[in-house]
Amino acid sequence: MTNRQKEIVRRGYDKLSYDYRNDNAIDDEGFYTEWVNCLKDKIPAESPVLDLGCGCGLPATKLLSEYFKVTGVDFSEVQIGRARKLVPSAEFICSDIADVQFSNCSFAAVVSFYTIIHIPLQEHREILMRIADWLRPDGYLLIIVGHEAWTGFDDRYLGVEGGEMMWSHEGEETYVQWISDAGLRILWTRFIPEGESGHTLVFARKSNNK
Ligand SMILES: C[S@@+](CC[C@H](N)C(=O)[O-])C[C@H]1O[C@@H](n2cnc3c(N)ncnc32)[C@H](O)[C@@H]1O
Repeated sequence: MTNRQKEIVRRGYDKLSYDYRNDNAIDDEGFYTEWVNCLKDKIPAESPVLDLGCGCGLPATKLLSEYFKVTGVDFSEVQIGRARKLVPSAEFICSDIADVQFSNCSFAAVVSFYTIIHIPLQEHREILMRIADWLRPDGYLLIIVGHEAWTGFDDRYLGVEGGEMMWSHEGEETYVQWISDAGLRILWTRFIPEGESGHTLVFARKSNNK
C-alpha cells in the first residue's frame, strides 16, 4: 500500500499541479502570510529554512524566500519544475521526503503545509523524528497535520476526471504526542478550517539539549 499510495499522490500532483495552484496564485486568504510571519518574528533574516512538500512554491516558499534562505523538497517533478521557475531564489530538491538526507542541525526552521497528510501513515512518526534531527537546537517546526484521523481516496480530486489522490493521517492528539516524542516542545496548535472540516497547524520548538 505504501508505494501504491505514494505513486497515486506523486502522479496526482504531476497531473493536477496547475489545477491546485496557477502561476499567479496569491495568498488570497492570508493564511500563509500569517504563518510565515510566525517565523519572521522569531528567526533572523537569511536563516536556513526547509519547506517539505513545497509544491509549485506558491505561496509559501516564495513568501519564505523573501526573508530566509529556503530549500524546498517535493517528489512531483511538475511541481518542482514550476517551483524552480517561480521562486528562483530558493533551492529545490526533487525527492520523496522519506528519502531526502540533510545533516543534523541544518535548519533554523522546518515548515510543511498540507503534505504529511498525503504520506502513508506508517511513515509519519519516523519523518517527524528526522525533522527533529535536521533542526538546530531551539529551531522551529510549523506543520499542518490532520485534525481528525482519516484515510481516503478520490478519483476526481479538484473536479478533474482521472485526477486520483490519496490522504492518510492521524488526528491532532496523536501528532502532538509524536512531535513531543521527537524532542520538540509544542508552543501552540490551531484549527485551520477548510470547507466543512479542517486541519491542525502545530508550532513547536526543539529543546536546546536534544
Ligand atoms: C497539498 S500540496 C501542498 C503544497 C504546498 N505545501 C502548499 O501548501 O501549497 C502537497 C505537496 O506535497 C507533495 N508530496 C506529497 N507526498 C510527498 C512525499 N512523500 N515526498 C515529497 N513530496 C510529497 C506533493 O507532490 C504536493 O506538491
